[in-house]
Amino acid sequence: MNPYLKQYQWSNIFAMIHNLGLDPKICTADFYHRLVVITGATSGIGYAAARKYASHGADLLLINRNEQKSEEVCDALRKEFQTNCTYLLADFSRLSDVHAAAKRLAALDGKIDVLIHNAGLYLTKKTRTEDNLEAVFQTNYLSTFILNYSLLEKLKAQTSGRILFVNSEAYRFAVAGLHLDDLSWNRHPYSGLKSYGAAKLAQLLSMIKLTELYQGTGITVNAMHPGNIKTNSGQNNGWLYKKLKSILVDRSARPMDVAAEALYYLGASPELEHISGKFFNLTTVEEPAPPALDRSAAETLWKISMDLGGFYEK
Ligand SMILES: NC(=O)c1ccc[n+]([C@@H]2O[C@H](COP(=O)([O-])OP(=O)(O)OC[C@H]3O[C@@H](n4cnc5c(N)ncnc54)[C@H](OP(=O)(O)O)[C@@H]3O)[C@@H](O)[C@H]2O)c1
Repeated sequence: MNPYLKQYQWSNIFAMIHNLGLDPKICTADFYHRLVVITGATSGIGYAAARKYASHGADLLLINRNEQKSEEVCDALRKEFQTNCTYLLADFSRLSDVHAAAKRLAALDGKIDVLIHNAGLYLTKKTRTEDNLEAVFQTNYLSTFILNYSLLEKLKAQTSGRILFVNSEAYRFAVAGLHLDDLSWNRHPYSGLKSYGAAKLAQLLSMIKLTELYQGTGITVNAMHPGNIKTNSGQNNGWLYKKLKSILVDRSARPMDVAAEALYYLGASPELEHISGKFFNLTTVEEPAPPALDRSAAETLWKISMDLGGFYEK
């Protein structure tokens, strides 16, 4: 029995469908020499967002897993926009890499103005990481938790800053919430939609706790759905998935600039200065579905994530 069944409302679904057709709000203000950290900026939405911020004068610190692609991206942005672009290497499916990157970020002298958690993947087949966790859960969620937890003190000491999750309406596939006793899909049947939806839902639940922890500071935390955007997403899956995606999903996909505009607005617009803990469909605030509002699940997930991340409550 789905514990959220009675809380679901059709109006919520209709609002989401309506919002999917909207265009993002545009921010025209510049962002000169503000530091923007973006994970997974070697392709797709992360790359488009990096270009957008670079075009407005931001300094970029990218966190990617591939050195050659990182060099190429930074070179291209330096040439086109004279951007200060640097990168850290971290594979988000490896805990030690993410901890090392988190330490480097936490030790930065300057302020982080915007942190965009974008790196992510979709896997039709259950895959185990070398840390013995399910890969989508670890890459899309646990690594973002580790970065966020490691940066709490640094960010709290800042007067302002914005954390953005590139989330997805696919969190709704976790219709009955998370399997909090089985986050690595050992005892429940796995599917790409279910694991991806659960990892995105986990991000939204962590946002509840983060928003509370940053209350009274200048740090805001928000999540967004970037639209259906044609990218490399899913290309590491089998031919059947890729064929179906190209027919059913990519034909109605929007250009990457749509997601990049939204991410720029959410990170840079003065209109959002004190807005925190919200889910945006592009740039439109949307009431999340019931599993994403479950405080008790958020508390339990936080404790499990602390444990998996190797952190101890201070
Ligand atoms: N496209 C859409 O319609 C859509 C819709 C909703 C949400 N999203 C979300 O948008 C985000 C970006 O996805 P995208 O569509 O732009 O896909 P993409 O083109 O495949 O980009 C994904 C990025 O994440 C990086 N990445 C993947 N696995 C990683 C790992 N283990 N460690 C470090 N980096 C890793 C990739 O690096 P490499 O270049 O090295 O592979 C790439 O830079 C994801 O969080 C996705 O869930 C996308």
